[in-house]
Amino acid sequence: KAQSRAERIVNAMKHKILIAYFSHTGYTATLAKEIADLTGGSLFQIQPVDDYPEDYRATVDRYKEETAKHLRPAVTGSVRDMDQYDVLFVGFPNWGGDLPYIVYSFLEQYDLAGKRIVPFCTNGGGGIGQSFILLQDACRTARVMKGFACNGRQAVDQTDALREWLSGLGLLKE
Ligand SMILES: Cc1cc2nc3c(=O)[nH]c(=O)nc-3n(C[C@H](O)[C@H](O)[C@H](O)COP(=O)(O)O)c2cc1C
Repeated sequence: KAQSRAERIVNAMKHKILIAYFSHTGYTATLAKEIADLTGGSLFQIQPVDDYPEDYRATVDRYKEETAKHLRPAVTGSVRDMDQYDVLFVGFPNWGGDLPYIVYSFLEQYDLAGKRIVPFCTNGGGGIGQSFILLQDACRTARVMKGFACNGRQAVDQTDALREWLSGLGLLKE
């Protein structure tokens, strides 16, 4: 059933929303900022203590080492009072069909029991891979909702698609 504008606003206001994202080359950041605008949520950038190299091949090498050794790269900063949020968007680039391991480092810092987790992902053409399923595995006490994905190069062009997705989740501000 379609919601009226007033119903949508009331609905969105019921939620306290955090949009946490990791972005190496800026595509996922583009989506994150737009989602913050459309939902009224707060942004948190997941940043590694040791930044990934600018060079693509060097980043792939580090990604390979992290996944082979199941490393948990250290994250800078933390979310103040995660308990206040009932909806947690988690944004990331598809790295090898999985979440970048820095995102696991971030998630494992918090008790996410009972939260609604909403994934979004940019990619180079490989879609979401296994990432949304692996996210649910990593956050067993939370509920992973319908996610959003697009090719990173088209991230700047997703306003209509983002609106439709967020409206379906009842999280569009207006
Ligand atoms: C280490 C690494 C692994 C990647 N693996 C994949 C992949 O398996 N499938 C895919 O479609 N894109 C892959 N990509 C491309 C990124 O997902 C894509 O460029 C994404 O939009 C980058 O988002 P960002 O700008 O937020 O970092 C990979 C990129 C890197 C650096």
